[in-house]
Amino acid sequence: MTTTSSIFVAGATGLLGGRITTALLDQGAPVRALVRPGTDGDRRAALAALEARGLELVEGDITDPVEKLAAAIGDATTVVSAVQGGPDVIVDGQVNLVRAAERAGARRFVPSDFAIDITKLEDGDNFMIDWRRQAAAAYGDTSLEVLSVLNGAFYEVMIGFMGIVDWEAGTVSHWGDPDQPLDMTSIADTAAFTAAVALDPRAGGTRRFAGEVLSMRRFHQALERATGRTLALVNLGTADDLRAEITRRAGLSQNPFDYVGLQYQWCMVTGKAKFDALDNAEYPHIKPVSLEDFVRADRSEP
Ligand SMILES: NC(=O)c1ccc[n+]([C@@H]2O[C@H](COP(=O)([O-])OP(=O)(O)OC[C@H]3O[C@@H](n4cnc5c(N)ncnc54)[C@H](OP(=O)(O)O)[C@@H]3O)[C@@H](O)[C@H]2O)c1
Repeated sequence: MTTTSSIFVAGATGLLGGRITTALLDQGAPVRALVRPGTDGDRRAALAALEARGLELVEGDITDPVEKLAAAIGDATTVVSAVQGGPDVIVDGQVNLVRAAERAGARRFVPSDFAIDITKLEDGDNFMIDWRRQAAAAYGDTSLEVLSVLNGAFYEVMIGFMGIVDWEAGTVSHWGDPDQPLDMTSIADTAAFTAAVALDPRAGGTRRFAGEVLSMRRFHQALERATGRTLALVNLGTADDLRAEITRRAGLSQNPFDYVGLQYQWCMVTGKAKFDALDNAEYPHIKPVSLEDFVRADRSEP
């Protein structure tokens, strides 16, 4: 299962990348993390605290010249990307990272995908996913083995960023069929699966994991059980109404991040980006937390 060859992580100061780095160290893997010179001081300090556990830090940026980035990658055999950003990072930066990994002699690349089933979506469905598919097409000629990890939506995003849950109003709002199954996973479990894939010499291609597959009706019930509260399940309209709302918001805003949460919801509630099958069974030692237990633990934190 484990390998003695080292893993290079780009985006290790990020929310997911930090967890992947920790999960790799937990497995005893030698890890080298790329840190941007201008990165946030607290984020750098959090990562530097892992140096005591053997983490090696190297300064750089995935848009650095290929030779420089290749030197940072060094003898790592697997390059994991958990970067986030615009097309300059997700498309151009990740293509540059792949070229540097090739130059360094690495063998495998885990792109910063970590989403619903990006292989089933089309241009225009979700602009952030479009960038990931554009990147994959641009480095499609690579000699590296590409291991794409997909996890559905983070629990943290489903109860936060998406705007589905309004704790003050006591509502869970959704579009479309309340019984449509949706893939979702905690950030920590996504990191654990990613570390397992990165350290598994047998792993290849796209791997799909979910902590739970829940409809909005069961999502709502899990939140009620976890919190002991009565929450109203509010239907905002059909999936077609959601598509119309996205078009309306796109007409009002120059900033697509204003409606990307709705684009993610549309991809999920239509079932278009639903995983056909899960690969959880390949790593039976990972027992993902349920949404209910996640919310219960989250709320009991001081
Ligand atoms: N499925 C879901 O529900 C879900 C939700 C959220 C995120 N995600 C995915 O998870 C992945 C990571 O997202 P996140 O939320 O963890 O991101 P994040 O917290 O914003 O962290 C982004 C990371 O990328 C680094 N980075 C950005 N530009 C870079 C560059 N040019 N060179 C090197 N590093 C660079 C940042 O470094 P600095 O610290 O220097 O800025 C940071 O370490 C993304 O693929 C994202 O789409 C999935």
